[in-house]
Amino acid sequence: MENQGISVSAKSSSNIAIVKYWGKHGDQLPNNPSVSFTLNNCFTYTYIRYDKENASGLQFLFEGKESPKFKEKINKYLEEHLDLFHFSADVVNHLTVESSNSFPHSSGIASSASSMSALVLCLLKLEKVLEHDTAPVDLRRASMLSRLASGSAARSVYPVMALWGETSSFKGSSDEFAVPLADIVAPVFKTYHDTILIVSNKEKSVSSRAGHALMDGHPMAEQRYATARYNTSRLIGALKNGNLETFIDIAESEAIQLHELMATSNPAYRLVEPNTLKITEEIGKFRYKKKVPVCFTLDAGPNVHLLYPDEFKNQVAAFVEEKLKYYCIENQYIDDFVKIF
Ligand code: PMV
Repeated sequence: MENQGISVSAKSSSNIAIVKYWGKHGDQLPNNPSVSFTLNNCFTYTYIRYDKENASGLQFLFEGKESPKFKEKINKYLEEHLDLFHFSADVVNHLTVESSNSFPHSSGIASSASSMSALVLCLLKLEKVLEHDTAPVDLRRASMLSRLASGSAARSVYPVMALWGETSSFKGSSDEFAVPLADIVAPVFKTYHDTILIVSNKEKSVSSRAGHALMDGHPMAEQRYATARYNTSRLIGALKNGNLETFIDIAESEAIQLHELMATSNPAYRLVEPNTLKITEEIGKFRYKKKVPVCFTLDAGPNVHLLYPDEFKNQVAAFVEEKLKYYCIENQYIDDFVKIF
């Protein structure tokens, strides 16, 4: 039989948002548009084997070990969205999924965007093999299916930068799927580095899912969504014309706003740590003194993402080594940069 023992694999990157997605409705639809860089070195690699002889239900291994939590997540996703794939529940019963991350599990880097998009890309490749279809995977469909698994995963299927969420500033943008921005960004943004300063490697005390939910009824919700829409349209302009000043302004204020929203939620919570704030202060001083266009952003956690064009990599590397790494847990940081292909 032709379908015995089919193997497919896919790699998908993590992404870091400049305009943040925070608050959602319906089936993983965003309350405002968001824009991110796709990273090169932080990725998930997923391998799926379809074995017709082995019907022991979906098996899942993370870095070689069974992970009941993630297996349940995949099963739930496939149960809820199987009608969107071109294979049956019987195929799912014959699958073994193996997944691993390029970044350490204990680095505090969220892996849901890379892991869920890698899983979806793999499932779409399997679908193609089963259908004898040799065309490449449709990335728009991959983005839509990834969104249903984890919102920010919608942006991870494209290299360089992606926009997710409808905005009048970009034709073809949608709440259902992300669109690539590679063709419109000025060359400087394709040279960007992201040095991830690991302030803490502990698991977050409040999940993103709970954080999104706290935006419902948040006293600043409407103001926040309006600001994010405005920042998206300003950012698209800055990306087109290479305006680093506007980019820096938006990146830092979006990061601060995300954490202010957490601090003013009910119940209120805080994910930043004292060293997060010390690092952001040092970055501001360094930028002002040395006239280097370096800035920070934060994800939903205490780690600081240091963003800068390649032209300044030596100066920034010295700054990280001499100053910033001492605020990191075990002096740990990850050098990453924008994924180009
Ligand atoms: O995709 P989720 O549900 O894990 O939410 C991600 C939210 C942020 O990472 C904080 C912002 C973003 O746009 O990636």
